[in-house]
Amino acid sequence: MKYGAFAMASAIAIVAANGALAESHVTPEAEVLHYWTSGGEAKSVAVLQEEFAANGGTWTDMPVAGGGGDAAGTALRARVLSGNAPTAAQIKGPSIQEWYQEGVLADISDVAEANNWGELLPASIASHMKCDGTWCAVPVNVHRVDWIWANTEILAANNIEMPTTWDEFNAAAETLQAAGIIPLAHGGQAWQDATVFETVVLGLGGPDFYQKALVDLDPEALGSDTMVAVFDQMRTLRGYVDDNFSGRDWNLATAMVMNGEAAFQIMGDWAKGEFLAAGQEPGVDFTCASTPGEGFLYNVDSFAMFEVGGEAKEAGQELLAELVMGPTFQEVFNMNKGSIPARTDVALDGFDSCAQTSSADMAASSDGGSLLPSYAHGMALFGAQAGAITDVVTAHFNSDMSSEDAVQMLTDAVANSM
Ligand code: GAL
Repeated sequence: MKYGAFAMASAIAIVAANGALAESHVTPEAEVLHYWTSGGEAKSVAVLQEEFAANGGTWTDMPVAGGGGDAAGTALRARVLSGNAPTAAQIKGPSIQEWYQEGVLADISDVAEANNWGELLPASIASHMKCDGTWCAVPVNVHRVDWIWANTEILAANNIEMPTTWDEFNAAAETLQAAGIIPLAHGGQAWQDATVFETVVLGLGGPDFYQKALVDLDPEALGSDTMVAVFDQMRTLRGYVDDNFSGRDWNLATAMVMNGEAAFQIMGDWAKGEFLAAGQEPGVDFTCASTPGEGFLYNVDSFAMFEVGGEAKEAGQELLAELVMGPTFQEVFNMNKGSIPARTDVALDGFDSCAQTSSADMAASSDGGSLLPSYAHGMALFGAQAGAITDVVTAHFNSDMSSEDAVQMLTDAVANSM
C-alpha cells in the first residue's frame, strides 16, 4: 500500500475513532516501552506512532535499545516493580502469562471481542494473547526466525546456490572462506547465538526433535547424540564468523551482508526490514531462503497493556489495541518490519517474495504439524528455562568446549532451572 493510500486509510480510521472519542472527550495517552531501535524497526514503529497521533492520541515513546529485547525486559521489570508501569509494553509469548500472573495486565477483551479478533487470528497466535480466557495482549505480526540472508552478488560471483542442507552450507562457506570472503556475518550476543542454535536444532533434528528438546525440554532429547551433532555444527559455524563478531549488534551484521563484507546471515526476518530500509530488493540485492530442514519457527511480537489507571491512559490502551490489529497497520507495519500480518484477512499482494514464501510456508507448516514456537525469541519457554539453554549455547560458542560437555551442561542446566 503506497503512503497516499495509507494516509487515506488513516483519515478513515480517524473519523471512525473520533466518533468514539467524541463521546469520551478525553485525549488518549500511551507511554509505550519497546525495543525497536534499528533502522528498519524504527521505521516500522513510526507507522504505529503516526496512526496513534492521527487518531488524536498522545504517544510517549520509551525505546530501550538492544536487539532481542533482553535490555527492554530489564527496564520493564524495574518500572513495574517501582510502581511506575508504562501504559503498554512490547512483550510476547509465555512472558505475557508471567506478567498476567503478577496481576499487572489490563484486560482488553472488550476491544478484542468488538473487533472479532477470535475470527481474525490463527489459533496458534490467539492462544498466546489470552490469559485465563480473557484477551491480555494484541499481536503485531508473525516473524519467521529460521532464515538465511545472502548477498546475491557474492553468491553469483562464487557460483553458489542457497544451501538446502547444513553440509551444503558448510561447503559454500569453505569456498567463500578460501576466496577471502567472510562466510557468516554474526553478532556475538547470547540471543543471536541462540537464534542460530535453534535453526540448527530444527534442521538437524527435525520438527519433532525441536519440539521434544526446546519446547518439551525432554531430557532424553536434550542429552541425545542428535544434540551432540547440533553442537558440532555450531562449532563449525563458529569457524565461519569474522574475528570482530563478539558483541556486534544484529543489524550491523545485516549491514555486512548488505555491503558485501560477508555472504550470509542466519537471522529472523526483521533483518529483511534492514535491507528494505536501505532500499535493497529481494532477489536482486539480497536473497532469502529458509535455513536447511523443514519447519517454521514463529516469533509473534505483541503489546500488553498494564493496569495504570486514568481515563486518558485507558483510552490510549483501547486505541492502541484497536490500531495494532487494524488492517491498515497490519499491512503497512509488516511491509516495513520484514514480518507478515498476524491477521489472516490481510492481502499480501503488496508484500515481497520473501513474505509470500513465509506466508506459504507458515500455512504448510501449520497443516504439517511443523509450525513451532521460537525458543530463542521467547515464544516457547518461561525465562528461567530459556535462559538456562541460552547460557550453555553462548558459553559453547565462545569457548573450545566439546559438544559432549555442552550436552551434559545443557541437560544439567535445564534440570536445575525447573
Ligand atoms: C525479536 C523481535 C523482533 C526484532 C528482533 C531484533 O525478539 O521479536 O521484532 O525486534 O528481536 O531486535
